[in-house]
Amino acid sequence: MTGNKFEYSIGDGTLTPFETFLQYSDEKEQTSDKLAELIESSPVHPWSLLDVGAGDGSFTKLYLSKVNALPQTVNVIEPSLDLAEKLPITLGTVADLPLLNIFNGSFQDYATDRKFDVIVASHVPFTGDNMQNLPDVYTKLLSLLNEDGRLLLVQRAADDTHEFREKFKTLLTGNKYDSFLVNDALAILSHISDDNKTHMTIDYTNSELIFPDHNPVDRTIIIEFLLNTQWGKMPDDIKLQIDDYISRKANRFTQHDGILTYK
Ligand SMILES: C[S@@+](CC[C@H](N)C(=O)[O-])C[C@H]1O[C@@H](n2cnc3c(N)ncnc32)[C@H](O)[C@@H]1O
Repeated sequence: MTGNKFEYSIGDGTLTPFETFLQYSDEKEQTSDKLAELIESSPVHPWSLLDVGAGDGSFTKLYLSKVNALPQTVNVIEPSLDLAEKLPITLGTVADLPLLNIFNGSFQDYATDRKFDVIVASHVPFTGDNMQNLPDVYTKLLSLLNEDGRLLLVQRAADDTHEFREKFKTLLTGNKYDSFLVNDALAILSHISDDNKTHMTIDYTNSELIFPDHNPVDRTIIIEFLLNTQWGKMPDDIKLQIDDYISRKANRFTQHDGILTYK
């Protein structure tokens, strides 16, 4: 998603579409609760963290605020300069957080001889729509884990938002759109890992996205964010179908994140 204009700020101080979306969903709150619980259950203490695709660090800050023992070292990777520049500001407000190592580049370009106790990759598209290179990315993620370390991969599970995206992105582009779900990540990891040593589980979270009917501007921004297309560029018949879809759901989408733990 590098370069996605719906993800990043345009520098005018207004909220990004992603930030607007977050105002109407408890997704990050629910997922950070579960993620913190999974980190807490890790046997390794003190622990080191690698957060891949950390954005502006808001989600990292949220789940770190819910763990009892902070990591001893924190490494974050973020390819967008715009977001990477915000990382020290966001994470600088976490009391007692150790020195932050920030890599402003893609995970594929990250070179290190360190290994980590916990690696978090939450909603990171890694290869955009090209799934072919994902096994290489996952193999690299696993190679950076310490012996007792765990990889915590957050991806969307089948839910209303997923169904909405698949239906309308397919209609808008004319090509069948398959979004990448947590089960797809599980399939790839099962394929590349050593079955005898591996233990994988998926925990699911429940959250809601509420479309504001009192605020048509924000409502439109959320739709644009989910479909990655400007409202003004959508054909009128598809706009009607979108409105109909959302009102049939009574302006509420149920959402599920899947957290895949690999250990
Ligand atoms: C949807 S945001 C998720 C941010 C945060 N992890 C969260 O869950 O709220 C995805 C982030 O992954 C980053 N990203 C995209 N491709 C990447 C790659 N190949 N390596 C590392 N990060 C990447 C994007 O720049 C973006 O900040």
